[in-house]
Amino acid sequence: MEQSKTTPLMQFIPDKISIQDSGFQQLVLSLFPNIGMLDSGFVRNGFTVVTAPDKIVNGEIRDFKGVPGRFDGIIGGSPCQDFSGLNRNPGTLSQEMLDEYKRIVRECQPDWFLLENVTRVPDVEIEGYYVQRFNLSPTDLGFEQSRNRTFQFGTKDGRIIELPEPVKYNGKRERCVTASEGNKPDRRTFEEFCKLQGFTEVPELGSFTKSAKYQAIGNGVHLGVSYVIARYLKNAIFSRYPKTIFNTKVCACGCGRIVSGRKLSYNDACRKRVQLKREVTWNDNSKIVTV
Ligand SMILES: C[S@@+](CC[C@H](N)C(=O)[O-])C[C@H]1O[C@@H](n2cnc3c(N)ncnc32)[C@H](O)[C@@H]1O
Ligand SMILES: [Zn+2]
Repeated sequence: MEQSKTTPLMQFIPDKISIQDSGFQQLVLSLFPNIGMLDSGFVRNGFTVVTAPDKIVNGEIRDFKGVPGRFDGIIGGSPCQDFSGLNRNPGTLSQEMLDEYKRIVRECQPDWFLLENVTRVPDVEIEGYYVQRFNLSPTDLGFEQSRNRTFQFGTKDGRIIELPEPVKYNGKRERCVTASEGNKPDRRTFEEFCKLQGFTEVPELGSFTKSAKYQAIGNGVHLGVSYVIARYLKNAIFSRYPKTIFNTKVCACGCGRIVSGRKLSYNDACRKRVQLKREVTWNDNSKIVTV
């Protein structure tokens, strides 16, 4: 394992938070770290992030053995191609890698975990954890890229992340960046591509080929999203009076937002999603909460 190399990614400064956050100590293991775009949000919020081996540097997750009780949290976005709506070929690699993620959580037994993936990712069921499932797109935070992604936040005590109010984004929406865009004739410039993923400057990616650079940036979590997720996750794990699935009602659409009173869904869009999708289920046996 090595400490995340965050240098080029630190260019994204959404607010003046100090990395040397006094007294804050959380050791986080990052699985499938890629070039550390999800990690960067956690580093920026004062978490100490170490990374498991990634294929991008000839690492192999199948060879990684988790150590029990050493990590406070585990984060990661396992490969998603086979779950993606863009790829209709059935495949098993994404499922296998998701199973690797689950294996390492079981071995390490962290207090919490966060999985990022495409919206068609299966529910993560791990014995001993309650899981909050919600979606977040950069446009919810006022960025121009439409990139809806699903997060699954698991805790042993049922804590949930209280998300910020989504921004009403009326600007131009840019199509989602993809890992393969670098090979396409209608690709956006690399500078534009990086900007859409939240970079304020083009990161230095050394000896990567042009196509590999697009792939690495296109595979990552938008830097604004990773920052916001880490910040609100931090609130959830340090709250003295945490919101949990036992004391809080969460939107039935799956967006993870908290609803009050007799409401089942957060807003009109949520209500439509509920009608389209599925019923609310609270499955206590598997400790999975599908909201
Ligand atoms: C979706 S990306 C993760 C993106 C990352 N969360 C970020 O924000 O930058 C998935 C990563 O899994 C890695 N990967 C795929 N198969 C792997 C394997 N067998 N062992 C280790 N890493 C693997 C890929 O190289 C890629 O970097
Ligand atoms: Zn909702």
